[in-house]
Amino acid sequence: MIKLFAANWKMHKTQAEAKQTAEDLVRLSAALPPGREVLVIPPFTALSATMAGIGGAGRFHTGAQNFYPATHGAFTGEISPAMLLDTGATFALTGHSERRHVLGELDAFVGQKTAFGLAAGLKVILCVGEKIEERKAGQLAEVLTRQIRLGLADVPKDVVPEDISLAYEPVWAIGTGLVAGPAEILEAHVLVRKLLEEIFGAPARRMRILYGGSVKPDNAAEIIALDNVDGVLVGGASLKADDFSRIVLA
Ligand code: PGA
Repeated sequence: MIKLFAANWKMHKTQAEAKQTAEDLVRLSAALPPGREVLVIPPFTALSATMAGIGGAGRFHTGAQNFYPATHGAFTGEISPAMLLDTGATFALTGHSERRHVLGELDAFVGQKTAFGLAAGLKVILCVGEKIEERKAGQLAEVLTRQIRLGLADVPKDVVPEDISLAYEPVWAIGTGLVAGPAEILEAHVLVRKLLEEIFGAPARRMRILYGGSVKPDNAAEIIALDNVDGVLVGGASLKADDFSRIVLA
């Protein structure tokens, strides 16, 4: 399985900053090992600039942090999958914890978006993960089961497995410096794989499961080597090309 190294820039970077960071990243990652690819996920306004910075470098892709599940219409402030594809973006996130917990997106809406984005031709990364109080209450399995079942409810069973990835991002590890330990990551990723197999059968083994939450240059190698970890989704440590290139080369 090709490992995916994704940079989620969140609400950071102007067009000029995005282009420069993308250019630097491509240059610093020239020795990208085989079997790896890189995805940069800037704000909408910097998608084209990021694409320009990548300059056609092989195995580098762009993606969006969000989209609305409709082709067009009266949805003030929203962006359609076709508009993203038009910038050259090929991936998009759904269900990121900040969309769920800051912007109030519910499981059913995340599911609607995931299915719509895939049908529209995007590769979708569905993000799931438990809050600290849910973990403490022993609800890890319950939360992941709900988020995955509802998040994938409308995805056709014959979806191209490479088009859908899951990102396990424990909410308590996002932007906090608290990385999940190897045992916690292994446990969650086995559970995610099992749920995917229940839904899709054997092709689920070809779906990537990424880990996200305080991935840094000094812990990336250990995380990426774990069973069932097919990539990483990186926030804070992806903003500087120097840091993120050390992660993609780790
Ligand atoms: P972080 O964010 O790497 O800053 O913890 C990860 C994410 O939100 O995708």
